[in-house]
Amino acid sequence: MFLGAPLSTEDLLFNIGLYARSSVLVKFLVMGKLYERIKDIPGVLVEFGTWYGHNLVLMENLRAIYEPFNKQRKIIGFDTFEGYKGQSREDKPSEVWRAGSYATGTDYRSYLAELLRVHEGNNVLGHVRGAHELVAGDVCETVPRYFSERRHLLVAFAYFDLGLYEPTKAALEAVLPHLVPGSVLLFDELTWPEAPGEATAFREVFAVANRPYRIEKDPLYPSKAIVTILA
Ligand SMILES: C[S@@+](CC[C@H](N)C(=O)[O-])C[C@H]1O[C@@H](n2cnc3c(N)ncnc32)[C@H](O)[C@@H]1O
Repeated sequence: MFLGAPLSTEDLLFNIGLYARSSVLVKFLVMGKLYERIKDIPGVLVEFGTWYGHNLVLMENLRAIYEPFNKQRKIIGFDTFEGYKGQSREDKPSEVWRAGSYATGTDYRSYLAELLRVHEGNNVLGHVRGAHELVAGDVCETVPRYFSERRHLLVAFAYFDLGLYEPTKAALEAVLPHLVPGSVLLFDELTWPEAPGEATAFREVFAVANRPYRIEKDPLYPSKAIVTILA
């Protein structure tokens, strides 16, 4: 019905909710609720495993709604943009993690960068640029390097959507020193049976982290877990 919609492209975009299923709408609700929680916490917003950047666009527009004048709220996305690279012994073998799965195509990163620029331009203070950054490559290398080169960075929100043990562990270890009390981490697949590696990484890192935290299941989205740093 979407492809055969009797609406002009402009009307289609304005009425996009006509086609948003509950499984998509729930993402808007969850991200909106989490943004409300972190809006008073200083720091950047990051996503590990961005795929097409749906959450990055959502974050830019939530930023515009909740704190339109905060251009210091940088949004950073990490992905290979070439999909998965393989898995380790801690992961469950699955087609989901097959090499190349979730590849977006080589030019997609530029397309997404432009899309974020367009959204930024349409929002308040749109002439002030530079609120987004896309970092391509394996997070096992890019994330430790990115944060060791920016020791000053505070992270208010980090979305972990890698699903596998090694990249989740590398990203979590690198970001941990940059979290402040009140920072929120969202784990996409913490209780999904296909993704035991994500939970293993989480348990191992926090077992030695000396960072008190609270963990909750998201009430609307069963596999998603919300971790709030307490101190
Ligand atoms: C499930 S998808 C992310 C979906 C996205 N967060 C969303 O909600 O639309 C997982 C992403 O992680 C990326 N990924 C997997 N392993 C990675 C690694 N080692 N380094 C960087 N990105 C990786 C994949 O390329 C893929 O785009």
